[in-house]
Amino acid sequence: MAPEILSRTWTFITAMTSKSILDGSAGDGREKLLLKSVLEDAEKNPESVMKTIDKFASRSWLMNIGDDKGQLLDKAIADRKPKVVLELGAYIGYSAVRISSQLEEGAKLISLEMNPENASTATQVVEHAGLSDKVVVVEGILKDKVGEIKRLVEEMNAEIIDFVFIDHDKRYYLSDYLLLKENGLVGKGTVLFADNMKIPGSPEYREYVTSNKEELDTVEHNTRFEYLRFLPDSVVISTLK
Ligand SMILES: C[S@@+](CC[C@H](N)C(=O)[O-])C[C@H]1O[C@@H](n2cnc3c(N)ncnc32)[C@H](O)[C@@H]1O
Repeated sequence: MAPEILSRTWTFITAMTSKSILDGSAGDGREKLLLKSVLEDAEKNPESVMKTIDKFASRSWLMNIGDDKGQLLDKAIADRKPKVVLELGAYIGYSAVRISSQLEEGAKLISLEMNPENASTATQVVEHAGLSDKVVVVEGILKDKVGEIKRLVEEMNAEIIDFVFIDHDKRYYLSDYLLLKENGLVGKGTVLFADNMKIPGSPEYREYVTSNKEELDTVEHNTRFEYLRFLPDSVVISTLK
């Protein structure tokens, strides 16, 4: 195996076995190094920022959606042309840059992140990419932030969120979707894009979106895991009827 693949496989294992992974960090300070690399090496535009992050992750694995699955995300965004997007789980801001760089004039991404250091990193990465006017990073978890998200949606003169990128703790995929539904934040036409449906997967979410056919149209796309193409993964895309 080439040294880069070895290094990213090893750093994937160390991240996954780290005690801090459920708190949103790989446990060895790589997120701080990533921020330094973006601020020092990337030009101030989305393409250069994403390229710098992908290059960093080719040696030191990061839990971003990455470029393979990122292309499926790009297509889903291009198909839906959302005005209001909610992302659950920002991490270091890779998908926030990816999504917001494609949004049409006036459209916005609300990016929810529970880890304060990650929220700060994502804010700085988005700023470096020149996209601060399109992204609002909200620090916290959904059940505490529903009121704030409702207010942000209203400020955008919208009634519902058009696109939800679900990419946080897999144990909360279903309960957070149900929370958005109970609060009237999603409705007819909202697209749900759920990442990592094979690794590590979210069985309750999968069961719900595939069995409630009167509520949702759901399609699963098989793809490869972020930065480790030898591992399978999938994304599940559902549209509310
Ligand atoms: C897989 S990463 C997100 C990757 C990012 N969407 C990307 O593709 O660039 C998951 C992130 O979700 C955050 N997170 C985990 N549980 C959360 C929760 N309940 N609410 C908000 N954020 C959460 C973690 O701190 C971590 O930063």
